Amino acid sequence: MRLYAGTVALVLGIETSCDETAAAVVDEEFHIHSSVVESSINLHRAFGGVVPELAGRAHVATIAPVVRRALEDAGLDSSAPALTGIAVTSGPGLIGSLLVGLSTAKALALAWDLPFVGVNHLEGHLFAPLLETNELAWPVMTLLVSGGHSLIVLQRGPGQHEVLGETIDDAAGEAYDKVARWLGLAYPGGPEIDRLAQEGSPDALTLPVSMIGEDFDLSFSGLKTAVVRATQLRPDVAVADVAASFQGALCEQLLRKLRQALERYEVEGVALAGGVAANSMLRGGVRQLAREFGLVAHLPTLAMCTDNAAMIAAAGLYRLATSGPSELDLSARPNWRLAEVS
Ligand code: KG4
Ligand code: ZN
Repeated sequence: MRLYAGTVALVLGIETSCDETAAAVVDEEFHIHSSVVESSINLHRAFGGVVPELAGRAHVATIAPVVRRALEDAGLDSSAPALTGIAVTSGPGLIGSLLVGLSTAKALALAWDLPFVGVNHLEGHLFAPLLETNELAWPVMTLLVSGGHSLIVLQRGPGQHEVLGETIDDAAGEAYDKVARWLGLAYPGGPEIDRLAQEGSPDALTLPVSMIGEDFDLSFSGLKTAVVRATQLRPDVAVADVAASFQGALCEQLLRKLRQALERYEVEGVALAGGVAANSMLRGGVRQLAREFGLVAHLPTLAMCTDNAAMIAAAGLYRLATSGPSELDLSARPNWRLAEVS
């Protein structure tokens, strides 16, 4: 996808919304010139979840070296890089974390006299599949599931999205992490439960598949509570069986809702995005739905599913070309919803 005419546009992306400090350089055709991701996850493991203050402090320590490495990996002069602009996640996310990336981006934009643009983190996730394939089969139905968010989004083109449904309580990844913690598994719990589920029986526990009506909203907190109750009543059930039963119920809800959306809206492609898109059962289910509905399945690699700055640079390239740069007094928006992005 070409966004600019003339010289090749090159954007530095910066991402610090949660526990990843990331910087990347991407060009207007969405080729990744460099992508650096440093995670502070080891600091949070003992607490079973991200501790905002620790995450913020880690960003302060890491951001400058990460940006420098991204510029050098891209073959750019890190003191005066030949860039077209700077894109940074300005929301949603942890306020203390967002402010580190946003302040860094503004300082660099001022120093290098470059336009900068604040990007919605969720819109960034929607651009991730475009970094691995030349074109998506538009319109695309996307299931965006991460530790902080769970949405079903109809995308008519890059940057043209309609949120059909969202979680009304926990995010899918949050449910994975909370159940894993209950089971005494390491943080983050998603990959652990996914691995254990391969060895367990999904029929070991009968768990509810919350469908909350005909619309596309999602809900996971009831399932989480049901797992706690079921394991209290039957402490003899093996952890692998609990993992398989939980994963089966959670993925069934996601896949049923996605199926309903595919039945309602005519699309050419179906995509997964966000950290939970790494899940084996979900990937298999989306491939199956794509076969059934005759659609192209866009399943980004793990590195593109989880938080990174290349996806922020890609969304930033689009936003710079279509909406123009942000003002230097732009604020961080910790609760910025995708539905509010236009
Ligand atoms: O997108 P992401 O890296 O960060 C957020 O923006 O939230 O997603 C992280 C989430 C965590 O909750 C983690 O447990 C979950 O993605 N996750 C998985 C798997 N791999 C990561 N959940 C289920 N199955 C997996 N294989
Ligand atoms: Zn994310």
